[in-house]
Amino acid sequence: MAKAPHDPKVEQNKATSEGGSIGDAQALEQITGLILLDMAAAEAYRVASDVCKAPEIKKQLEAFRQDHERHVRELSDALGTALPEEADDRGLCIRRYTELSAREDRTALVAMRGNEELTNDAYASALASDLPAEVRRMVEANWQDERRHIRWINEEIRTRGWELPEVPSTLAEAA
Ligand SMILES: [Fe+2]
Ligand SMILES: [Fe+2]
Repeated sequence: MAKAPHDPKVEQNKATSEGGSIGDAQALEQITGLILLDMAAAEAYRVASDVCKAPEIKKQLEAFRQDHERHVRELSDALGTALPEEADDRGLCIRRYTELSAREDRTALVAMRGNEELTNDAYASALASDLPAEVRRMVEANWQDERRHIRWINEEIRTRGWELPEVPSTLAEAA
């Protein structure tokens, strides 16, 4: 759903916004998408950490939730616009998916791995688009957080032997 590059509303926004750092409509749309996704991820981490029993997992998920909330703040400051008040459809799906699948520590981590695949992909595709230098630096720094999140979750699932039975590690190794 790409906006025309010279959407007059966006041009106006650029002219009047205090931050004024977002260059064009495509960048604006990319960053707005990241903000909504970070909001959804923060909410999903809250749902997931609530069902976890192991204190070290709970603590880590809580720290990741705070990273996502910081991303929301930083990116919306860069946009110079008010935060979206409500989750979009994708955000609602992410929340519902997490509520349905996160039952205890293992399923919470597996659900959050799926969610982190989404945020990691979204950050990577935002970085592939034209972004103003200052915003790009922020998105790159956030992306490093996202990579750290998914690395930790993958490692935790692996070391605890929590890989889903549908994907036996022996098959993955044989492939
Ligand atoms: Fe993020
Ligand atoms: Fe993350």
